[in-house]
Amino acid sequence: MTPDEKKQQVAKAALEYVVPDTIIGIGTGSTANHFVDALASIKHTIEGTVASSNATAERLKSHGIPVLELNSVDEISVYIDGADESNRHLHLIKGGGGALTREKIVAAVSKKFVCIADDSKLVDVMGKFPLPVEVIPMARSYVARQIVKMGGNPIWRDGFTTDNGNVILDVHNLQIMQPVQLEAELNQIVGVVTNGLFAARPADVLLLGSDQGVKKIT
Ligand code: A5P
Repeated sequence: MTPDEKKQQVAKAALEYVVPDTIIGIGTGSTANHFVDALASIKHTIEGTVASSNATAERLKSHGIPVLELNSVDEISVYIDGADESNRHLHLIKGGGGALTREKIVAAVSKKFVCIADDSKLVDVMGKFPLPVEVIPMARSYVARQIVKMGGNPIWRDGFTTDNGNVILDVHNLQIMQPVQLEAELNQIVGVVTNGLFAARPADVLLLGSDQGVKKIT
């Protein structure tokens, strides 16, 4: 199977986690896009969705799936989203698509986080995929210097602006042995909006598309 076929396979499998008559949080990226397409087939069973990016909101609306503002929602039953890397503790790196902050917010509000990915995303130690950090534009150079002091190599994602009007630094050369600590440490740098480590709030379930079928890690 190609990586995209595995993403499609796992996206369909995630339909099982959709709770009827509730609001569903929807992630961003190619795997989440497959999930949106699959969700369209059961759209009449849910109350609505909250999207983690403008792009996802547009895709949901194109299928006629209701998209709600997070501020008008008390509870999200389940958040379904992809990842760039996951370890076996279901700590994740996310934000390859630049939507990390809204993804982290929607995940925080959700009772359950189901991560869907092709099996290449499971790693022993995270960090080969550059860690995205969303930064207030005027703080870009300062934050980059602080990250260099921590041993990372931050590269400005030139020409990219997040849905929140900010910039992204992709941090290379990290071997993330302590994801919870690193997530907190990066968030302490003034000017950082958030970083792409999802470790303080990891996924609850990881579904991996593979040649042998969908594998589940909890
Ligand atoms: C978007 O900002 C990301 O967090 C995505 O969830 C992540 O990059 C996974 O993307 P794919 O599903 O396209 O691999």
